[in-house]
Amino acid sequence: NKLHGNIAIDGPAGAGKSTAARLLAQKLGYLYIDSGAMYRALTWKALHQGIDLADERQLVALAEATTIRLENTAAGTVKVYCDNEEITAAIRQETVSHHVSTVARVPGVRRRLVELQRQMAASNRVVMDGRDIGTNVLPEAPYKFFLTASLEERARRRYQELIASGRPVDLETIKEEIRRRDAQDSQREVDPLQPAPDAVIIDTTNMKVEEVVAKLLELIQAHHGVNTPAGEPS
Ligand code: CDP
Ligand code: CDP
Repeated sequence: NKLHGNIAIDGPAGAGKSTAARLLAQKLGYLYIDSGAMYRALTWKALHQGIDLADERQLVALAEATTIRLENTAAGTVKVYCDNEEITAAIRQETVSHHVSTVARVPGVRRRLVELQRQMAASNRVVMDGRDIGTNVLPEAPYKFFLTASLEERARRRYQELIASGRPVDLETIKEEIRRRDAQDSQREVDPLQPAPDAVIIDTTNMKVEEVVAKLLELIQAHHGVNTPAGEPS
């Protein structure tokens, strides 16, 4: 099966987008673009500089003056650079997670980052994950997926991840943070989180990572592209 065309993966926090996107890109030899890492990088810089996050003009000026670069490593991970400084680990800090959707709701910020995302996709076949990839960044992508899972399961995944990295966390707090961020992302005016009309929606609540990747590959190879629950004939 000859594959061609970009792959867009959207969905709420903890749905398993980045894990699946990274593995899929590795298998297909595509470039993986973590668009969320770009919003996180800008948020990290804004916090670092003490910018008032309620000041949209300052945030837009910052976005326009910032160079964000994503580097796919041979190991399949992504290194994140902001103005040539590596901030891969720093963008996962809780303060960044807490504030990122406030930065991401600013239209001028989105305009700038979407432009960069499209540039990255212009010269490569990509798997890109985020919130508005299928609806806005790559509306022409032939393969669009919307991954979801129950709030409980998504919180549990984040919890396990943080515990494994040695960070003390509380499951209820994580659940509330995810709930709040999803609401902000879904309710913003510009390019809110929602499935593209032609996205395949996959509920991963009871699926292992490998099962999700296998499902995506199967759907890509079968050239699906309609809004039916995965597994049902379209
Ligand atoms: O990995 P996680 O689910 O925690 O989120 P992420 O993909 O790193 O994205 C962080 C935040 O960036 C999201 O909650 C959104 O506010 C914003 N984002 C966005 O607005 N549009 C995108 N295409 C990607 C991320
Ligand atoms: O990018 P997104 O926020 O959608 O989620 P992720 O960062 O890919 O996944 C969050 C965590 O859940 C990771 O530690 C994954 O290994 C785990 N995960 C899982 O346990 N089962 C899945 N089907 C997908 C992800």
